[in-house]
Amino acid sequence: MTTGSEAISMATAPTGLPRHVAIIMDGNGRWARSRGLPRFEGHRRGVQTLRDIVRHAGRIGIDYLTLYSFSSENWSRPAEEVRELMSLLKHFVRRDLAELAANNVRVRVIGERDDLAPDIRALLEEAETKTTRNTGLTLVVAFNYGARNEIARAVRRVAADVAAGRLPAESVTEDAISQRLDTAGIPDPDLILRTSGEQRLSNFLLWQAAYSEFVFVPAYWPDFTADEFDRAIDEFLGRERRFGGVPAAAGA
Ligand code: IPE
Ligand code: IPE
Ligand code: MG
Repeated sequence: MTTGSEAISMATAPTGLPRHVAIIMDGNGRWARSRGLPRFEGHRRGVQTLRDIVRHAGRIGIDYLTLYSFSSENWSRPAEEVRELMSLLKHFVRRDLAELAANNVRVRVIGERDDLAPDIRALLEEAETKTTRNTGLTLVVAFNYGARNEIARAVRRVAADVAAGRLPAESVTEDAISQRLDTAGIPDPDLILRTSGEQRLSNFLLWQAAYSEFVFVPAYWPDFTADEFDRAIDEFLGRERRFGGVPAAAGA
């Protein structure tokens, strides 16, 4: 029987750090409102935090950092805000791609690409192709991402493979699904961190979060710092992960 347990990431890096940290960058709007500024200012400041955290994560030796940048539900925001978020993404890729590439960062993008404007799609593809050979931090950008959409697309691929006779129905295992998700080849997140005090996943990595640890911090994303990132990692390191088993000492 396939238990699928091989698909569940049990690894932490040799340093003891989580290998994969995923962040729900939330609270830009409230940060701006609390200062009497337009929401856009919060998003603009949020990009600065994003830069700081990407640099910091690379420096301390995190292997994978996933950032939830725009959800499949964020299209329901006012058109002007959506336009501003798209423009910030373009600006970020244009301005930061060279530095990311020079710092050995590898960029991967997850999410539905078909609905995106051609210029944005081209930029995201350029970020991936220009950094594909890099071996440092893998920065996974979740853009136009929704976990249910991702799972539905993976299941569609499974169905197509079964219908074409490439995949016997008995081989539709957890791994077969994982391999068809946008995150194929990326270990499951060890730690999922959300800023702004909200305690929900908002359609982020539903499949991959099966055994992730969660840390929720009150700071709005524009106020979030590298020190708070380190504190979240310390909290993670104090957790006991069991993956359904028994504590290490009891099992001895
Ligand atoms: C997160 O901040 C950024 C995106 C969702 C793009 P929000 O814009 O959700 O900020 P709040 O939650 O309204 O404060
Ligand atoms: C989740 O935040 C999406 C991103 C951070 C990109 P939202 O602000 O969209 O989530 P809800 O609506 O509060 O659940
Ligand atoms: Mg929000």
